[in-house]
Amino acid sequence: MSKDLKKEKMLAAKEAVKFIDDNMIIGLGTGSTAFYAIMEIGERVKNGLKIKAIPTSNETRELAKSLNIELIDINKVDSIDITIDGADEFTSDLLLIKGGGGALFREKIVASVTKKQIIIADSSKKVATLGKFKLPIEVIPFASYYVLRQIESINGKGKIRMAADKEFLTDQGNYIIDADFGLLKDPKSLATALTQIEGLVAHGLFIGLTDMIIMGNEDSVMIFD
Ligand code: A5P
Repeated sequence: MSKDLKKEKMLAAKEAVKFIDDNMIIGLGTGSTAFYAIMEIGERVKNGLKIKAIPTSNETRELAKSLNIELIDINKVDSIDITIDGADEFTSDLLLIKGGGGALFREKIVASVTKKQIIIADSSKKVATLGKFKLPIEVIPFASYYVLRQIESINGKGKIRMAADKEFLTDQGNYIIDADFGLLKDPKSLATALTQIEGLVAHGLFIGLTDMIIMGNEDSVMIFD
């Protein structure tokens, strides 16, 4: 029997939202799994929950507004209590690849100021080693050819992400390079090497940024922390 991934996403999202209490500042992730968490938060807000939220993308901002979730500027807070976000791949030791939806830059900033980062995912996202999913890398358009060549020099193969016949643009107006480095035996060293490339805004390796992963697993959830 094939797994019901939608149900797994919903179960993980519901479980994560249980950690939210009145007066918290909440980071709202982006993507099809975070969507279910935001819907659930909207429901709780309708029933009286008092929170302020920081969205990780324009798409999430619009969804939150439509659910009357009060928003606050990230530059007005010292920290975020809880962020609930998705992932494209994760390992049981809390390493992630994110950015399949192109929101990695804001997701990483939000994760960096968050006290408790909860990742929610269906069971198809769990891997033994990261790297089957191509690593999203946000790049300033002016630097894109240079960054592509730098990626090659560290044994990666990158391609600029397209949307129809134009370059996909992030919420910051940048491009995304999807890069294949094969299976990542040493994600930490790769993250360090990428961070040194000029013109590279953010990469989708999230290391040391996650406190808990809640994975939907058929009719229940599994927690990694
Ligand atoms: C957005 O850029 C991403 O980082 C998402 O969090 C990630 O791609 C997971 O998305 P889904 O929940 O839609 O799989």
